Amino acid sequence: MKINKLQVRNFRNLKRIEYEPSPGINVLVGDNAQGKTNLLEAIFVLSTGNSFRNAIDSNLLNYEAEGYIIKSNYIISDRCIEASLQYQINGYKKALINNKKSSQKHIDRLRVVLFTPDDLFLVKGSPSKRRSFLDFILKQLSNEYIFNLDNYAGILKKRNLLLKKEQTTGKAFEVINEVFIENAIRLVIQRINFVNILDDINRSVFREINGGMNDIKIRYALSFAIDSDKINVAVLQDALRKNIEKNMKSEVLRRKTLTGPHLDDLNFYQDGRLARTFSSQGQQRNLAISLKLAEMYAFKKIKGSYPLFLLDEVLAELDEKKRSLLIKHLQEADFQTFLTSVDFENNDDRASIFLIKEGRLIRKEN
Ligand SMILES: Nc1ncnc2c1ncn2[C@@H]1O[C@H](COP(=O)(O)OP(=O)(O)OP(=O)(O)O)[C@@H](O)[C@H]1O
Ligand SMILES: [Mg+2]
Repeated sequence: MKINKLQVRNFRNLKRIEYEPSPGINVLVGDNAQGKTNLLEAIFVLSTGNSFRNAIDSNLLNYEAEGYIIKSNYIISDRCIEASLQYQINGYKKALINNKKSSQKHIDRLRVVLFTPDDLFLVKGSPSKRRSFLDFILKQLSNEYIFNLDNYAGILKKRNLLLKKEQTTGKAFEVINEVFIENAIRLVIQRINFVNILDDINRSVFREINGGMNDIKIRYALSFAIDSDKINVAVLQDALRKNIEKNMKSEVLRRKTLTGPHLDDLNFYQDGRLARTFSSQGQQRNLAISLKLAEMYAFKKIKGSYPLFLLDEVLAELDEKKRSLLIKHLQEADFQTFLTSVDFENNDDRASIFLIKEGRLIRKEN
């Protein structure tokens, strides 16, 4: 998937952008507060319908304007797609793909992998960060996952409400428990299958960007114990059911659900040891970089085409050696990359550099 044209009107400080990116690596350079991240955000919003900066549409709309529009022409496996997203100050919002009204589940929507400095804490950070990492990519890969995740959230809410109201002995709780287990395991299975693919890819990407020094493993970490080597729906459902029965007293006491995919995690192992505890900061960062690249390759393996790779200010966080390794990888890769940077030394003409100033795309630097 590659963008060949992007038009933006009145999105944050981007009043009018007409942009024809290169198919490879695109570097958006400019001083602070000129609109670099805003341009990445516009692509992200067109793709997902939401901002990655926790902003609502009224924040995204230029202070002086009545509505914003983001429009893009892109190619997915030789097919030309045109997508647009329009928002007006009165709350009206419309997404079109090839001139037809579309939802965020449309098969031809733009897909992205976003990499921000925050992701460098993927290994060390909270479990919720790692769950979000998994959920984000799986939501882009599978509409069924979106459905299951939404369903699970609704069931979890109801189950917690019954626990809060201390209604845990009646038929209603029994029924919700069964639906809860069924939905929980559906999510878990999808996640485990994806993690297995990611693990495989990540091992070779990590080796490439780290000179083959360490062996890396990724494992899905359940929030409940299983007493079988085999993992399948029946084993998992049985284990979760047993766990719920065992922990019922604690759940009643704490008035919330204490096991399930909303509490699962991802474990990374470096040479057999838990990376979160044993790896150095630098090693954890390297792992985060390879995970983000592995996310790109896993998407391609499953869907047959690459998403776009959006990197916001990541280069500034890396040392010289790591930075040039990453850039080299991106330049040789077959996907389209957009990265922002305050400064970018251009010693390779395979990167297209665009200058952003006061919300305008000034020129192509090379
Ligand atoms: N709704 C809006 N309308 C107009 N301007 C906005 C709006 N929201 C944010 N801005 C402004 O857009 C400007 C550019 O923001 P952006 O985050 O893109 O900067 P940047 O070029 O990425 O800078 P940095 O290098 O510091 O990350 C900021 O000055 C911000 O105040
Ligand atoms: Mg920025």
